[in-house]
Formats: sequence, C-alpha cells, structure tokens
Amino acid sequence: MSRVVIWSFLLACFVGLSPTSVAFAADTVCIECHGGQPGPLGAPIAEWRTSVHAQNGISCHDCHGGDPTDFASAMEPEQGFLGAPDYSDVPAFCGRCHVGVAEAYQSGAHGQAIESGGAQCVVCHGNHAIQKPGLELINEENCSQCHSYDRAALIRLSLVETDTMVAKVGEDLERLYRLGFAVDEMQGTLFNQRNLFHRIFHGVDVERVRQETAAVQAEVGKISNEVAEIDATVGQRKLWGSVVIGLFVLAGVIFMLVRKAYEEEEKGGG
Ligand code: HEC
Ligand code: HEC
Ligand code: HEC
Ligand code: HEC
Ligand code: HEC
Repeated sequence: MSRVVIWSFLLACFVGLSPTSVAFAADTVCIECHGGQPGPLGAPIAEWRTSVHAQNGISCHDCHGGDPTDFASAMEPEQGFLGAPDYSDVPAFCGRCHVGVAEAYQSGAHGQAIESGGAQCVVCHGNHAIQKPGLELINEENCSQCHSYDRAALIRLSLVETDTMVAKVGEDLERLYRLGFAVDEMQGTLFNQRNLFHRIFHGVDVERVRQETAAVQAEVGKISNEVAEIDATVGQRKLWGSVVIGLFVLAGVIFMLVRKAYEEEEKGGG
C-alpha cells in the first residue's frame, strides 16, 4: 500500500517536471515542443541558446515565422510559417534583417554563383549557433573547400589592415571621450564607416575590396588626423598648465621670502 503511495508521488513529480513546466523551456511553444523532440528537430534549441541571435532576442519564429503562442497552429502557413529554407533561398531568408550585407553578397561572385555551388550565409556562419563573426572566418580550411585560397588570402590582407586602423581610432575616441572631449560626431562617422567596412567582404571581389577598403581608410584617416590635432592641443594645454603652476609656486616662494624679510626687519627694529 505505502509503495503505491510512494510510486504515485514519484510519478506526480515526474509529470510535474514534464517539458511543459520546465522553466527554461517555457518561452515559446516552438522551444517547448522542439525541446522535447529527438535528433535534428530538437538539436537547434541548445545550439541557438549559444548564439548571437538568442543574445539579441531573435527567436525561432523571428527566422522561421509561425505563431509562437499557439501549440496547435504554430506551424501553419496561415500564421506566416516559412519552414526551413532551401540552399539557394537562405540569402533572402537572412537578408530580411541583414539588408546591407545581403545586397553586397548578391552582387558578388558567391551570390551570382549560388545555383552552381556559391557559398551562402549558412556555409560560413552556420544556422543555429551563429556567433559574432570576424576576419578569422577567412582561413585556408574554410575557404579552400570549393576553390583555391589565393584570392581569399589577398582579400584577408586588405581587410586586416583596415580592421586594425578602425579599432585603433575607436580606442582613441574612447580615450578622448574619457578626457571630456565631445567626440559624438567623430564616433558617428566611425560607426558608419565601420558598418560599410564589415559589409565589403561579402562582395568577395579582390579589386573591389581593395578600392572600397581604401575609401574607408581615407575616411577613417580623417578622423585619425582630428584625433592627432586634439592630442596636440592637449599637449599644449598640459605645457601651459605646468607653466602656470610653476609661476604660482614661484610667486608663493617670493611672497614667503618677502614676508620673512619683513618680519625679521620688524624684530630687529623692535
Ligand atoms: C507541438 C509540437 C511543435 C510545435 C509547437 C512547433 N513545432 Fe516545429 N516541428 C515539429 C515537428 C514534429 C516537426 C517535424 C514534422 C513536420 O515538419 O511537421 C517540426 C518541424 C519544424 C521545422 C522544419 C520544417 C522543414 O521544412 O523541414 C521548423 C523550421 C520548425 N518546426 C520550426 C518551428 C517554429 C518556428 C515553431 C513555433 C512558431 C514550431 N516549429 C512549433 C513540432 C513542433
Ligand atoms: C537565425 C535564423 C534562425 C533561427 C533563430 C532559428 N533557425 Fe532553424 N533554421 C534556420 C535555417 C537557415 C535553416 C535551414 C538549414 C540549413 O540550411 O542549414 C534552419 C533549419 C531548421 C530546422 C530543420 C532541420 C535542420 O536542422 O536543418 C529545424 C527543425 C529548425 N530550424 C528549428 C528551429 C528552432 C526550433 C529554432 C529556435 C530554437 C530555430 N530553428 C531558430 C535558421 C534559423
Ligand atoms: C528577424 C531578423 C533576423 C534574421 C532573419 C536573421 N538575423 Fe542575424 N541578427 C539579427 C539581429 C537583431 C542581430 C543582432 C544585432 C546585430 O548585430 O546586427 C543579428 C546578428 C547576426 C550576426 C552577428 C553580427 C555581429 O556583428 O555581431 C550574424 C553573423 C548574423 N546575424 C547572421 C545571420 C544569418 C546567417 C541569418 C540567416 C540564417 C540571420 N542572421 C538571420 C536579426 C536577424
Ligand atoms: C564566404 C563566407 C561568408 C558568406 C557566404 C557570408 N558571410 Fe557573413 N561574414 C563572413 C565573414 C568573414 C565576416 C566578417 C567580415 C568582417 O569582419 O569584415 C562576416 C560578417 C557578417 C556579419 C557581420 C557584419 C558586421 O557589421 O560586423 C553579418 C551580419 C553577416 N556576415 C551576415 C551574413 C549573411 C546574412 C550572409 C548571406 C546573405 C552572409 N553573411 C554570407 C563570411 C561570410
Ligand atoms: C561552398 C563553396 C564555397 C566556399 C566554402 C567558398 N567559396 Fe568562394 N566561391 C565559390 C564559387 C562557386 C565561386 C565562383 C567561381 C569561382 O570564381 O571560383 C567563388 C568565388 C570566390 C571568389 C572570386 C571572386 C571573383 O569574382 O574573382 C573569391 C574571392 C572567393 N570565392 C572567396 C571566398 C572566401 C574568402 C571563402 C571563405 C570565407 C570562400 N570563398 C568560400 C564557392 C565557395
């Protein structure tokens, strides 16, 4: 009898812990149901949780469409459900949000050759575990799967040089900001140039990358010159600052000496 009670209790606990009531999975019906699916239907959940999309609140339904609040009609086309895109539909699928990148991509060799094996977004970035990307994605292993690495290496070289320059100027502006200078405008320009720059790669054209990175370098170079000018005035201010302090100290010393001499004269006279 008591065994039956214990087993019923354990069973109740187990039911209580079934996927519908596990706290972490309660976000959307997509996550709840797929979290309980085996194999490739469940795998996206854990991968997505590590992604830059999860960190920015982009969930299953933001990419795949559908109704994230209703179990029964979640994946109905009438609810805007798109399913999983085919290979050549991926750029448009991601390009709904990444408009500038998708434009650069479409105009380049990968976009143009998509029907004959051109790389698309998921080939380089993955689908569910997408991370913040950088130039380290351009490496021999990734880029020699379909063709030689030669052209990729040239592109990488131009980009790394510009990347270093953009990062350096970004740090300079941060430093001037902490010193109390108004750097909003320069930061705005740098931000725009940075966005332009990080889109250049997707055109995968050696000549164009060279031209476009040169244009970005020229604009960032102007900011760099402004920074140098401000640094020079800071240097001068520091110099004048020390001169003024020096004069004050000197005046103080003279005052002390004069007073001492005066006091001594008074003592001698009295
Ligand atoms: C009640 C469980 C359940 C819910 C809720 C659910 N799914 Fe699914 N999903 C499945 C199953 C089972 C499959 C595989 C069979 C099928 O395609 O219908 C699937 C398939 C998919 C696929 C692959 C389709 C393809 O074309 O290969 C995607 C993408 C997907 N679901 C996304 C979502 C999204 C986004 C939501 C929320 C808006 C969602 N699912 C809600 C159970 C669910
Ligand atoms: C950034 C957009 C994006 C998000 C967010 C996203 N997916 Fe996907 N998903 C894709 C793409 C693209 C594919 C097509 C597969 C491919 O080409 O690799 C896909 C494929 C799938 C498939 C088909 C099986 C497979 O792995 O190919 C399922 C199931 C699926 N997604 C479910 C989900 C679920 C559940 C979530 C939420 C945890 C989710 N997806 C979030 C982009 C996304
Ligand atoms: C519903 C809109 C949406 C869709 C669809 C989408 N993304 Fe995103 N993605 C975002 C947002 C929002 C961010 C975070 C803000 C940012 O960095 O742009 C982001 C960030 C990223 C980043 C990191 C950018 C960075 O600088 O850190 C990459 C890479 C990325 N997405 C690739 C993809 C790929 C590949 C797809 C298609 C499989 C895709 N995204 C589909 C909205 C989306
Ligand atoms: C051949 C590989 C490759 C393909 C294909 C590709 N990317 Fe990228 N992506 C990269 C690399 C490399 C970077 C880093 C470039 C940089 O830092 O300048 C990047 C950067 C990004 C970024 C970040 C941009 C930023 O402002 O920092 C986003 C978003 C992105 N890609 C989305 C996409 C989307 C959407 C597609 C499909 C239309 C796509 N990528 C196709 C390799 C690729
Ligand atoms: C899935 C296969 C595939 C992968 C992976 C791939 N590419 Fe490509 N790439 C192509 C195809 C197809 C073309 C067009 C035919 C050609 O020019 O070789 C191409 C063309 C190019 C071109 C020539 C553009 C021109 O007009 O001269 C460059 C540069 C390039 N890819 C760079 C890269 C880089 C960098 C990577 C790694 C981040 C990469 N590719 C990864 C398939 C791929």
